[in-house]
Amino acid sequence: AEVKKIAVISGDGIGPEVIAEAQKVLTKTEEVFGYKFETEHGLFGGIAIDEKGTPLPQETLDICKKADAVLLGAVGGPKWDNNPKETRPETGLLGIRKALGLFSNIRPAVIFDCLKDASTLKPEVLDGTDLIVVRELTGGIYFGEKFRRETANGQEAVDTCVYNVNEVERIARQGFEIARTRRKKLTSVDKANVLETSRLWRETVIRVAADYPDVELDHVLVDNCAMQLLRRPSSFDVIVTENMFGDILSDEAAMLTGSIGMLSSASLGEGSFGLYEPVHGSAPDIAGQGIANPIATILSVALMFRLTFGYHDAAAAIERAVKEVLDAGHRTGDIAVDKSKAIGTTAMGDLIVAAIRK
Ligand code: NAD
Ligand code: IPM
Ligand code: MN
Repeated sequence: AEVKKIAVISGDGIGPEVIAEAQKVLTKTEEVFGYKFETEHGLFGGIAIDEKGTPLPQETLDICKKADAVLLGAVGGPKWDNNPKETRPETGLLGIRKALGLFSNIRPAVIFDCLKDASTLKPEVLDGTDLIVVRELTGGIYFGEKFRRETANGQEAVDTCVYNVNEVERIARQGFEIARTRRKKLTSVDKANVLETSRLWRETVIRVAADYPDVELDHVLVDNCAMQLLRRPSSFDVIVTENMFGDILSDEAAMLTGSIGMLSSASLGEGSFGLYEPVHGSAPDIAGQGIANPIATILSVALMFRLTFGYHDAAAAIERAVKEVLDAGHRTGDIAVDKSKAIGTTAMGDLIVAAIRK
């Protein structure tokens, strides 16, 4: 098979712990399916600040640009929390997304039946839930001008939220295209009763909808959406929304699956190139203990196989392996009802790797 280049960026906290398990999955897929991967590691986040003075060294960006796909762990931690913007790990994360043109962030919330008891919601509320959050990733308040200024009333801080029509249109199309392959229902989430960017968002989504008459479109205000996600999650198919709303709603959606440790993501641009990472962060509270759930990262590898490489057989094998291991009752602490029986990160990774077969 053709050799695929994967840039591997572990980052901070539990990042390296969960990435190690994902790498075992890559190796096992080579053995079972005959695919060939070449991995190259790059420094990123807090560790890159410590070693190179910047969260996103040029060398790391170059490794990503040369690659067919990027596998990323997580960045951040208390050590760097009081740094100025330029030397914050999170600035590196926003920088890499922007530099690689990854405007579309796909976050599927998949419910494994056997994990319904791990969610804080009642099992019957979860029945039939299968949704995807399509989050705009390179615009909005995250990337608008930010500054502080002195006023007569003391210091002021400003974050500006900007969206142009093109940015909204391309993510709206992505939402419609994905909905088309599923239950054909798109929910556009905004705050059009207050925000001008949201009014432009809604107008644009409505205009794009004319090209997708087969997809049912509705508009929900973000506060109501946050409520409906807990009330009747099964009513959603694809949610398309702006950067910050998508960040918040996807963490909320994670709890439908039982844990943020279950949620994978793909960040895409115009071509097949993609960056794949768990939705969760570096989890400083559990870092170094070997107890993090590696499933979000392992499922991100499956997304990479599907969306960038078109390796549908291997993607399905990984997803099946995860299901098999969960069905057999194995749990990391975050999804365990009986915490005393929880297994660690490497044990979970090993079980999943062992269950990968043709
Ligand atoms: P977090 O997602 O790191 O952790 C939130 C909670 O979920 C914690 O209690 C943590 O222990 C738990 N958790 C997260 N992932 C888990 C896993 N795989 N298994 C078991 N439990 C898990 O969010 P936070 O605490 O708000 O942020 C911590 C740091 O991570 C911050 O510096 C933040 O900026 C950064 N962050 C980075 C990313 C990223 O790299 N993509 C995403 C979110 C947050
Ligand atoms: C995420 C994270 C990032 C975001 C932070 C760490 C910058 O929360 O990937 O969801 O807000 O996009
Ligand atoms: Mn987030």
